Amino acid sequence: RERELASLYLANEYASEFFHACLTKTNMGRVAREYLASRGISDDIIRNFKLGFAPPAWDKLVQALTRRGLSEELLLKAGLVLTRPRGDGIYDRFRNRVMFPIRDARGRVVGFGGRVLDDSSPKYLNSPDTLLFNKRHLLYGLDAAIRSIKESGQVIVVEGYMDVITAHRFGFTNVVASLGTAFTPEQAGLLERCSVSQVLFAYDSDAAGQSATFRALATVRERGFNVKVVSIPEGKDPDEFLRRHGPEAFARVVAQAMPFVDYQLQQALESIDYSTLEGKVAVVSKILPVLASVGNAVEVNGHIARLAQKLNIDESAIRTEYAKYIHQY
Ligand code: UTP
Ligand code: MN
Ligand code: MN
Ligand code: MN
Ligand code: MN
Repeated sequence: RERELASLYLANEYASEFFHACLTKTNMGRVAREYLASRGISDDIIRNFKLGFAPPAWDKLVQALTRRGLSEELLLKAGLVLTRPRGDGIYDRFRNRVMFPIRDARGRVVGFGGRVLDDSSPKYLNSPDTLLFNKRHLLYGLDAAIRSIKESGQVIVVEGYMDVITAHRFGFTNVVASLGTAFTPEQAGLLERCSVSQVLFAYDSDAAGQSATFRALATVRERGFNVKVVSIPEGKDPDEFLRRHGPEAFARVVAQAMPFVDYQLQQALESIDYSTLEGKVAVVSKILPVLASVGNAVEVNGHIARLAQKLNIDESAIRTEYAKYIHQY
């Protein structure tokens, strides 16, 4: 078992070396180099994150790694290859993609994410679950961020690979990505082990990002972290925002991070015209599930009082609706 794990680490390490060499040293890698350059990724970053390129062929990785003495069986177990549907033999899982090695907290490569160079789909292909790799147990960039997280006690959680890389590039070194999954209890556990006190979520400002934020909050709150939400303006993600507006603007947005309920309330008040009675009703029904997630009655009361004032309605009316809502669930 120990030896099996060791050989899986080795296979992933060799694969990352192969992809990296394809990106940096071959003609084939040129399209990928140009793609990364167009997204502001320098050679330094390519080296630091050991980005790579999976060539547009069926068995380049198979050839390279079997030549280094790795068995087909091992490559299969590492999730790097697939078996041919008929006949025997194996072929590369990742083809014609920019490769992001995913490391554990100790910096060992345990899997990969691979991005297409155009807008075909799936946009990102990830390693399948293996003995080493399970997205739910990993945070992309944690190995690079761990020192900064421990020193500051603060972590910024983003959705994606590029968000992490661009954030680090601009000096925000306490940034990790939950890899597009709903933030899991296991990921919260990883942060706990870094003695984090404050967790900021800076997910994409689209609807998917917002609902992922909502779900993440419940997971993280249970742990007693101080949690805040960074709201990235203009339907962007941190990568796009940083590249367009620069690090000072991002730092300002981070400094304006809000406790979750305040954030939801602001969203509701911004999107709904609450001068009308219908508007007031709509705001209240939008906020009820948020309040229900708070879990502390004193806090709920405070929010209800503020909301009543803001909407210029009676507190007891909101309280009645809240009681009805809670009762349903
Ligand atoms: P996004 O769709 O927000 O992609 O997914 P992105 O990170 O902004 O990608 P770019 O900027 O277009 O390159 C966020 C994260 O969700 C995971 C990836 O980890 C991605 O970074 N994801 C997304 C997948 O695993 N597979 C997908 O097909 C899409
Ligand atoms: Mn997503
Ligand atoms: Mn998204
Ligand atoms: Mn993006
Ligand atoms: Mn995104």
